[in-house]
Amino acid sequence: MSQTKILDGRKVAKELEAEIGQVVENLTKQGITPGLTVILVGDNPASEIYVSYKEKACKRVGINSNLIKLPAEINEEELLGEVERLNQDDSVDGILVQLPLPEHIDEEKVINTIRADKDVDGFHPINIGKLMINGSGLHSCTPRGIMEILHRYEIEVEGKNAVIIGRSNIVGKPMAQMLLQENATVTICHSRTKDLKEHTLKADILVAAVGRAEFVTADMVKKGAVIIDVGINRTENGLLGDVEFKGVKEKAAAITPVPGGVGPMTIATLLKNTLKACQERRG
Ligand code: GUN
Repeated sequence: MSQTKILDGRKVAKELEAEIGQVVENLTKQGITPGLTVILVGDNPASEIYVSYKEKACKRVGINSNLIKLPAEINEEELLGEVERLNQDDSVDGILVQLPLPEHIDEEKVINTIRADKDVDGFHPINIGKLMINGSGLHSCTPRGIMEILHRYEIEVEGKNAVIIGRSNIVGKPMAQMLLQENATVTICHSRTKDLKEHTLKADILVAAVGRAEFVTADMVKKGAVIIDVGINRTENGLLGDVEFKGVKEKAAAITPVPGGVGPMTIATLLKNTLKACQERRG
C-alpha cells in the first residue's frame, strides 16, 4: 500500500482564499477595496476561460475585478495607451494583460509598460530583478503558488536537491530562484539537457513544467521524492499533467494531482498578489 501524500492544491487554495477574503473585508471597511483589471486582446478561447476563472476568484474574495476586452486588430500603441491609463488609475491595484497577444504586438514591450508595483503577474523586469536579489517584489503566480503548497505541507526545502524541468520565464526560471532563495540546491533541466534522467534521479523535489503529457515516468524518479506537476495538457485521454501520475505516485513521498494541484494555487496567488499590490501602494 502506498503512503504517498497527495498535495491537495484545491484545499490549500481554499485556505488561502479564506485568509485573503478576511483581509480584503477589513480593507474594504476602511474604504479601500483591492481592484484587478485584466486586459484580454482578441478571442482566444483558452484565454477567455482562464480570464473567467480569474474574475470568479476575485468575486469569491471581494476583490473588484474589471475586464477590458479589446479587438485582435488593436495596434500596439493603443494597447500601450490603455496600460498607461490603468497605471495612473488609483483604484487599479493589479494589471494583468492575458498572454498570448496577437503576433503584431510586442509582448515584452507591453509587460515593460505595466507599472512594476501593479504587475500582479510578476513578469516585469523590476520584479524579476527583485526576486533575484532578495526575494522582494511581486512574483510569478505559478511558482509562488507551488512554494505555498510546499510551506503549508511543511515540506523542507533547505539543503534539498531541487530539479526543475523547463526554463520558461513564467515558471521554470522564477521557480529556480524561489527554491534557491530558500536554500535548495537547484538544477534547471531543459530540452537540450543531456541525460535528463541522471539529473531527475537525484531530485528530492522534482518540478515538471515541460508541457508534454506524462513526460516524467516512474523510472526517472527517486524513491521518496516530492513531485510537483505543472502540466495542463488537453489530450484525447482528457486533461493530463506532465507526470505519469499512477506510476510515479508509487515511488513519490508526495505528489500534486492534475487537476487539483498546482492550477488552483496559480489563481489564489494572483489574488494574493493583487492584495499585496494594494497594501503596498495604498494600504
Ligand atoms: N497566459 C497563460 N498563463 C498566463 C499567466 O500566468 N499570465 C498571463 N498574463 N497570461 C497567461
